[in-house]
Amino acid sequence: MRYTHSLPDMPSFDGKGFFGYTFGPLQQKDLDIYRIEVEKGHDTFMVSKRITRVYYVISGSGYFTIDNGRYDVDRGMLVEIPPNVEYSYSGKMTLIAVCKPRWFMGNDKHTKWNADAVQGDFPLAADRRPRRSFGESLVKIAELLTGRRSSINLYIRLNRRLWKRLPFKLRNTWPLRWYGTILHGVVCRRANRIQFTGTFFLRNRPQLELICRLASQKPEGSTLNLAVLGCSVGAEIYSILSAIRTARPDLNVQLRAVDNSAEVLKVAREAVYTRQTCDFVGSSIFERLTRTEFEEMFEGNRREARVRSWLRQGITWHLGDANDPELIHVVGPQDMVVASNFLCHMERSMAENCLRNIARIVKPGGYLFVTGVDLDIREKVARELRWRPIPELIKEIHDGDPSVRQDWPCEWWGLEPLDTKRSDWQMRYATAFRPNEGARPSMGKAAGVDFGDHNESVSLGRPA
Ligand SMILES: C[S@@+](CC[C@H](N)C(=O)[O-])C[C@H]1O[C@@H](n2cnc3c(N)ncnc32)[C@H](O)[C@@H]1O
Repeated sequence: MRYTHSLPDMPSFDGKGFFGYTFGPLQQKDLDIYRIEVEKGHDTFMVSKRITRVYYVISGSGYFTIDNGRYDVDRGMLVEIPPNVEYSYSGKMTLIAVCKPRWFMGNDKHTKWNADAVQGDFPLAADRRPRRSFGESLVKIAELLTGRRSSINLYIRLNRRLWKRLPFKLRNTWPLRWYGTILHGVVCRRANRIQFTGTFFLRNRPQLELICRLASQKPEGSTLNLAVLGCSVGAEIYSILSAIRTARPDLNVQLRAVDNSAEVLKVAREAVYTRQTCDFVGSSIFERLTRTEFEEMFEGNRREARVRSWLRQGITWHLGDANDPELIHVVGPQDMVVASNFLCHMERSMAENCLRNIARIVKPGGYLFVTGVDLDIREKVARELRWRPIPELIKEIHDGDPSVRQDWPCEWWGLEPLDTKRSDWQMRYATAFRPNEGARPSMGKAAGVDFGDHNESVSLGRPA
């Protein structure tokens, strides 16, 4: 149990005239606590839908405008803002804000600019609250009309059968992609997400290639600290070690392997794989290996194979939860953190918290690789925490793991076809990021990277 929280190194949200830090993750899941540095004021007036906000002025002075009334504040004063009241604040001050329940996209309606912070009469950016997707709306309507959830399940089952029979060319046409997006929304809404342990050796080759390219930036003979979270029976670990140690034999790779299942960790540590292992994890783990690759990595044959000793060195095993705020203390700061194919199996709010927690263990200048997560969650966290996406190999990595691409749109873990026509496509589909190189306070453009923030005036997707 964690009892104390330091101020994070990086701000987690900002606007014109203010920026703020989010403490936590807290044990209390219905609470957010921020420290806000107000330089001029909050850039907009807003109306909170559900969240009650309490602000405490720890230094400086200014004023709150609440329901058209002006309230001067200075050090030591407390301001309570209930939902459904229009307000903003101005001045030069440091605030502690307590929000209950936690901030969520869609809570705030931004009504107008705050002239103390923003000059000009340009229009407010569109509210970025996530609307219920068309698919989700359909489910809601169908449930209301039929009063029966079973009819939705039948619809999904039918689609599962039909979709797989469609020729690939047809599936790739825009009407079917559009339909697939709706169907995937329905599937996700109905899904009762549970964890899987399925994995493969050399699961996503372009991802391994990118890991190697980025590892190559390390100086000759140096140490590379790398953590693999949700490592299952170890296929991903030995694949990464094989790729890096082949490309850069001079590097001293120290790998922290984390999973919250003692059973899979035992298999991973023993590094002996049999037919029973495949049955246990429900996947044919060797199927993506060529014969040569198999022989380089294993002693034995595909019925019983032991990972060679050059791949078994430098690994520390941890039975642990990627969601645990103590994770940073358990594994320590890392040059690279890999979190593949387990966040999508969590309930969405837990996945979001977990992703924020994972990012904390990446060293400044380090890299985070995240695949197998709802794309909107990754994009939201990446934007809010101002991660810099790595543009290299985005398309290749996206299509690099056939098992998730082919399961779209009928399974919740299925990965939609990459759509480069989207203005935010790099941010949506990137799987590698530099979390500690955020673009704050730049407005979304980093060298060679299109953040998709085309409205450069202000980001409304932040909490207080
Ligand atoms: C589908 S497997 C993915 C294995 C591997 N990362 C890959 O991509 O092939 C998911 C693994 O994540 C583990 N896992 C799920 N939730 C976790 C959590 N909160 N912390 C650590 N491991 C977790 C599961 O036990 C399982 O072994």
